[in-house]
Amino acid sequence: MKSKKRIVNSALLTFPALSQNESLSRSFMSVFLMQANPTVEEISDVKCAVSEAVTNSIVHGYRGGDGVIKLRVRLTEDMTLIIDVTDRGCGIEDVVKAQTPQFTTNTDGERSGMGFTVMKAFTDKMSVYSKPGKGTRVRLVKAIGRRDT
Ligand SMILES: Nc1ncnc2c1ncn2[C@@H]1O[C@H](COP(=O)(O)OP(=O)(O)OP(=O)(O)O)[C@@H](O)[C@H]1O
Ligand SMILES: [Mg+2]
Repeated sequence: MKSKKRIVNSALLTFPALSQNESLSRSFMSVFLMQANPTVEEISDVKCAVSEAVTNSIVHGYRGGDGVIKLRVRLTEDMTLIIDVTDRGCGIEDVVKAQTPQFTTNTDGERSGMGFTVMKAFTDKMSVYSKPGKGTRVRLVKAIGRRDT
């Protein structure tokens, strides 16, 4: 059985699906992360993974149209960061296929289909929950500040 870790802090940022809010989500993440004594690399990894998820909600979820994105962050007592990026956009038909490296539904050649691969590489765990017509939630989990030295 999974033991539930106590949440010591949390925050929720809600914003419209506008490309200028990608940088807002990155700044929000780095400010929240500071309390966990992160390395420079951890900050950059988290910002990068979160902006991939937020970009996906803007570009794919809402297809560039109106919509609201929720960025929820929680920090557990053992300094594990749990991030949820949620949209109420078009959803994903096949979440397994969507996570395949280089898979993209984008046709104008602007996307490389590597967003989920980047999110996976820069975190400890990524999970995607989605319902066509309802929306998508991407959960990213990453242990912070656990240096060996
Ligand atoms: N929030 C979302 N809502 C709807 N579809 C999504 C969402 N996120 C991802 N997808 C689907 O999953 C596919 C793969 O996403 P991924 O981020 O890996 O690649 P990409 O966005 O197409 O390209 P890149 O991220 O490299 O620019 C997308 O092309 C899209 O079809
Ligand atoms: Mg993407």
